[in-house]
Amino acid sequence: MHAYRASLLRFDAAGQPVFDTDGLLVIGPDGQGRQRVQDAGAFAEVAARHPGAAVTHWPGRILAPGFVDMHIHFPQTDIIGAPADGLLPWLENYTFPAESRFADPAHSAEVAEVFFDELLRNGVTTSLTFATSHPQSVQAFFEAAQRRQLRMISGKVLQDRHSPDGVRDQTERSLTDTEALIRTWHNRDRLGYAITPRFAPTSTDAQLRGAGELAAKYPDTWIHSHVAENKDEVKWARELFPHARSYLDVYAGFGLMRERAVYAHCIHFDDDDRRLMRDTGTASAVSPTSNLFLGSGFFDFEGADRIGYRYGLASDVGGGTSFSPFATMLAAYYVGREGQTKPGVSIPPSQLWWRHTGGAARALGLDGVIGNLQPGCEADFLVIDPKATPLLARKTALANNLEELLFSLIVLGDDRLIERTVISQAG
Ligand code: GUN
Ligand code: ZN
Repeated sequence: MHAYRASLLRFDAAGQPVFDTDGLLVIGPDGQGRQRVQDAGAFAEVAARHPGAAVTHWPGRILAPGFVDMHIHFPQTDIIGAPADGLLPWLENYTFPAESRFADPAHSAEVAEVFFDELLRNGVTTSLTFATSHPQSVQAFFEAAQRRQLRMISGKVLQDRHSPDGVRDQTERSLTDTEALIRTWHNRDRLGYAITPRFAPTSTDAQLRGAGELAAKYPDTWIHSHVAENKDEVKWARELFPHARSYLDVYAGFGLMRERAVYAHCIHFDDDDRRLMRDTGTASAVSPTSNLFLGSGFFDFEGADRIGYRYGLASDVGGGTSFSPFATMLAAYYVGREGQTKPGVSIPPSQLWWRHTGGAARALGLDGVIGNLQPGCEADFLVIDPKATPLLARKTALANNLEELLFSLIVLGDDRLIERTVISQAG
């Protein structure tokens, strides 16, 4: 048992913040040897319950749950900031050429290490992650994640049409490769598999049908794709699938909407789409830096809340412009302002934070496992230094309450805030 004394940020079951200025986080192994939160709360109360625990004191620091990135592409690490007119030319000119290099296992392994270094420096401890269509890329990703004992989710991209040589896969083979990867990696240590059709326009009906069959056969795997990001993409999908009610409905028709299905973007939706999300337990990965960078549009937070479906925040690197959750939360705030119909602040800072931690975990079906520091959660946590820069030191000292403190961190923060990222160890 080990205890850490500092300020402590957690969330209650309703997603509201719980903050102890002088807090104590007690970590210890469960029956399998996995490090979990054993107790958390105000120092005086919690310390009294654990008289024997060794205490590390981090004065002036904030302990917070590791961030959860609901949608990111590890093979796009090197194409952050690639300029394009919009999604489709960006894919053709930058993304597919960069991804074709992941046929090489050595390149896949090298980029996976850079990717994990970058995630951890930025305080992201779990991500739902696109690999490429090459099984080697998934293999490299999971091997590196396993060595670091991370909770990570990924999968081989399925794209058997409208894709250039070098990234296009073959229908039958893509499905047998997917099943082999599920059997090798899903639920091994803290790793999880996501069945990953790139998006409907780049898969044949046969491939989407096969993906849906695998999703039914392995019901606790994830499903991960893109939908309704860009107007040209929506038009293309409507032409390719004229019988579906909407672009989103294409996925429903192939059995690709259920709990643990996550769709990035979800911008060009109507209320029937939102109800379909809610009724199937499907979640959105909201990626505002990407949507602003590629000129895709603005996620409708009010619409999502009005209908009541699950969503969380995501970087979407390399369409997104930063690995930093602070950049993503700030962009979400701006986008929330854009769609705002009522006066007042846009999304409250603590809600932005929850959408990138506990709320994202809930949207992934990992509530109570990651994204929070309540007892029972795996011990993936951050030590945040709110005085990491001169301006942050000045500004955070002026905060009158928790919302002001969190907002200062979101607006001014970057990887310098993350003094330490602690990963739950096993055994
Ligand atoms: N739609 C299909 N593929 C992609 C991708 O790689 N990035 C984004 N942002 N959208 C996509
Ligand atoms: Zn994406």
